Amino acid sequence: MNRREFLGKTALATLFAGTSPVLLGAQPEAPKSASFKVRFTTAPSLQCPTADGVTVAIGVDGPSTAWVEYGETEALGQTAWGSRDGLKPFANHAHHIPLAPLPPGRRIFYRVRACPIDFRGPYDIRRGEEISTDVFSFQTFDPQAAQARFVVWNDTHENAATLQALMRRTRTLPSDFLVWNGDVTDVNQEERIPIQYFSPAGQPFTRDMPLIFVRGNHDTRGAAARALHRFVHLPGNRFYYSFRHGPVAGIVLDTGEDKLDTHPVYAGLGDFDRYRQEQSRWLEAELKRPEISQAPFRVVFCHIPCARREGVPAFASTDPRSGWHQVFVQGKVAAVVSGHTHRHACLPPDENRPYAQLIGGGPGDDNATLIRGEVTRERLKLSIQDLHGEELAAWTAET
Ligand SMILES: [Fe+2]
Ligand SMILES: [Fe+2]
Repeated sequence: MNRREFLGKTALATLFAGTSPVLLGAQPEAPKSASFKVRFTTAPSLQCPTADGVTVAIGVDGPSTAWVEYGETEALGQTAWGSRDGLKPFANHAHHIPLAPLPPGRRIFYRVRACPIDFRGPYDIRRGEEISTDVFSFQTFDPQAAQARFVVWNDTHENAATLQALMRRTRTLPSDFLVWNGDVTDVNQEERIPIQYFSPAGQPFTRDMPLIFVRGNHDTRGAAARALHRFVHLPGNRFYYSFRHGPVAGIVLDTGEDKLDTHPVYAGLGDFDRYRQEQSRWLEAELKRPEISQAPFRVVFCHIPCARREGVPAFASTDPRSGWHQVFVQGKVAAVVSGHTHRHACLPPDENRPYAQLIGGGPGDDNATLIRGEVTRERLKLSIQDLHGEELAAWTAET
């Protein structure tokens, strides 16, 4: 008998010797402690922002539990345990702790705590040394806010230098949220997803403001792509959703792969046309919801552009995405913000397309961009900037 088996059997023998089930329930054994450790592998990432909540995600390097202490002052004072169905979190690579309800438009201070867990058996669960992040803060969404400011990253493809430069630029632009407009990476290994999606290249890009995640075609690729939604939490647990912050209503669409489902490289595993039709039905209804339809400006975020050149439709008439154009027109969409082409572009509205199409650049230091959005009730400004902050193109709309 090895040591672990011996300890397990001894513990069970002690529990059951001369006791009744009533006594077992009345005298629970205190959790055993041990000196094993866990480390955070990422910065916290604020996911799934809604009008009354956000989910704090963080990567860890081993079996552990985690919780979040938070409040409206640095004294914190409240605890979110992340329990589900009566069980607190227990995971190997990442934790997700929802904070809700939160008041709209308020600064929330928080820190994440974690504790390694040696889960030897139902009655032999050992806690290790607790760890904690520093205290950080963010502002919650507020549908009534007078203005909204955001930044858009896209097509970073794990280029560390570009990610670092984007982070430096983003720090100079106070923002309410960050849109990551797709093509983070091919998703080959599930255990690497937290490092790739929570703090890419070690950058705490959504530690201090919530993430609006938009899936790109590369994010659908790789053997672990089906696990992505378990790590990047989104409203309704879908890659298409909407949000409202102040004068802007955001619509996130998932354009899927960039080749036909029948293309041989997908070996018959792609089913994006059906998925796009599902989104078409949702989009039509979503744009009619008062929270969206009554916003001063509606902006669509989708990875593959819906228009690439003046007067040229981006999709074949047989592609369900070609039908989105008419829904955008009827729903009075002001602008579509995309990436994918690795070449920035700013297409103002024209006689056939009453909304603007902006496209961010690529992953290299010679073509990477950041798109800045500034919205008031009277004015929407979208500008494309290079990594030094120089404005490459801009478009403004007024109500
Ligand atoms: Fe890309
Ligand atoms: Fe792409």
